[in-house]
Amino acid sequence: MAESMKGLKRSHRCTEVSIENVGEKVTVMGWVQKRRNLGSLIFVDLRDRSGLLQIVFDEKDVKAEGFAKAETIRNEFVLAVVGTVEKREGAVNENLKTGDIEIRACELRILSEAQTPPIPVEEGVNTKDELRLKYRYLDLRKPNLQRNLKLRSDVTTLVRSFMADEGFLDIETPILTKSTPEGARDYLVPSRVHPGNFYALPQSPQLFKQLLMCSGCDRYFQIAKCFRDEDLRADRQPEFTQIDMELSFVDVDDVIDVNERLLKKLWKEIMGVDIPTPFPRITWQEAMDRYGSDKPDTRFGMELKDVSDIVKDCGFGVFTGALENGGSVRGINANGQGAMPRKKIDALVDFAKGYGAKGLAYIAINEDGTYKSSFAKFMTEEEMKGIVDRLEGKPGDLLLFAADKTKLVYDVLGALRVEIAKNLGLLSKDTFNFLWVVEFPLLEYSEEEQRYVAMHHPFTMPMEEDWDKIDTDPGSVRAQAYDIVLNGTELGGGSIRIHQDDIQEKMFEVLGFTKESAYDRFGFLLDAFKYGVPPHAGLAYGLDRLVMHMAKEDNIREVMAFPKVKDASCLMTEAPNVVDDKQLEELYIKSTYEGE
Ligand code: AMO
Ligand code: AMP
Repeated sequence: MAESMKGLKRSHRCTEVSIENVGEKVTVMGWVQKRRNLGSLIFVDLRDRSGLLQIVFDEKDVKAEGFAKAETIRNEFVLAVVGTVEKREGAVNENLKTGDIEIRACELRILSEAQTPPIPVEEGVNTKDELRLKYRYLDLRKPNLQRNLKLRSDVTTLVRSFMADEGFLDIETPILTKSTPEGARDYLVPSRVHPGNFYALPQSPQLFKQLLMCSGCDRYFQIAKCFRDEDLRADRQPEFTQIDMELSFVDVDDVIDVNERLLKKLWKEIMGVDIPTPFPRITWQEAMDRYGSDKPDTRFGMELKDVSDIVKDCGFGVFTGALENGGSVRGINANGQGAMPRKKIDALVDFAKGYGAKGLAYIAINEDGTYKSSFAKFMTEEEMKGIVDRLEGKPGDLLLFAADKTKLVYDVLGALRVEIAKNLGLLSKDTFNFLWVVEFPLLEYSEEEQRYVAMHHPFTMPMEEDWDKIDTDPGSVRAQAYDIVLNGTELGGGSIRIHQDDIQEKMFEVLGFTKESAYDRFGFLLDAFKYGVPPHAGLAYGLDRLVMHMAKEDNIREVMAFPKVKDASCLMTEAPNVVDDKQLEELYIKSTYEGE
């Protein structure tokens, strides 16, 4: 039976009690982590947000009725215990903050009983993800997840105070709004009052924050919920949080400066880690050429090398074919992996095929300097030496090559170098390699849509020196855009915005918008720009990704209280779900779904 806590007041959280309190009477409350029954003695590990504390119920100290009650305690019962702090008689538990003390109980109240939990409430015990998320409220009791939530709270608190000190105003923007152009699908909300009309949930506060600059707010920030209907991955959720900012009268260096100071402060104050600033800046082109990725992980080398010039006349059709199709042949050197067993190499080939490669060509350099290779027989000795030298191959190395359209070669080798580094244990979570990737292409060609689309979004300012190529060679125009990258993750991105009518109009034209369709979607912003707009720029971080790295987790789910699973459903609430016909009727909605 649940008892009331009337007349009792918690005096300490579990780990706020220490050796300093020996002899004092305290009142603690929490959940039962573990109970051991030794006849006349019952030991209970009591848990709250702060950690664990050992309680002893001794038949001698607790009244008979109280002791009988203590005997009924099970895991996850919620207790209030009054007792005296004592130095531990048994061995000190070095692993516990309160390992040198215990509470000798004189009063016990069972505030709530608990059924046997469907998942173990214990850190480090493997439980199926589906069960963890179905019983997320129990999962969240685990110390590691409690730590992650606390860390996330510490981060947002520090961000808020830093941004306030820097003169940013915290301003909320609407959730029921109009589509924002971040390139994902929208989540739509039907309007009851306007039949057949829909709100879109924001993919980001992009348009509103630019309007706030028009309004003279000068510096805005928000910890903003964003919604994107896109495929989920380890670092992607359909609803996630941005640390979003926008600044007036600034250039790229100003945005980078304030953000480097923010990140430096976060790492210093929360992690106790000094991260050196300024962060390296590399151009998008250099990132692709050296790492095959626009979010390079620089914790290890294995950089890509272009060997197209050496193999252009070789006898290996795979290579020359790719070059004839306008592609390239590039390779990486997995240092010291020359003795990799065939099976493991085959696994790498399969991995590469997962990224669209038709195959992987390799050279293993034996200790005596001879080669084991899938294509040596098609090459001259000089060609072989040429590519081995280009990749700085030494005896014992494994060289891997991909030949294809250059974009695919980048993707394949970019992913492969990370996969190999992961297999070799080179990805330390204690190293934090920040860098800025700058000068992104303004546009990228979408084969699907058969037109250019904005690489960042349509309001990103082109680089002045490239603008004259917008008609003749749009793909070569670079943007004043920047991403902040940490250990191979895109933590955030932003750009200088267009604030000139003529450039914006041209940009819409290149993107295939008519004047009308541009006005239809963004008219309010274009209108606002007619009444005096300051030059402005901004950036947004994925808060979940940032905290994931700080918590040294591999999935943003571990730093979100109630995340969704791969198919965007919530296993706990079972959202999304079917709604009443009456509700649909009110919203003028009819489902066209006819079942499987
Ligand atoms: P962008 O689309 O690059 O830029 O988003 C900024 C950052 O948000 C995070 N992010 C996500 N995190 C979790 N799940 C997702 N589905 C997800 N999608 C994005 C990433 C990303 O770097 N308005 C612009 C910013 C600007 O120009 O100021 C924007 O939203 O960490
Ligand atoms: P094939 O001619 O398809 O039998 O391939 C000969 C060798 O080249 C095999 O080891 C393939 O894995 C490899 N290979 C095939 N296509 C490519 C490619 N596009 N890039 C690199 N290697 C390839």
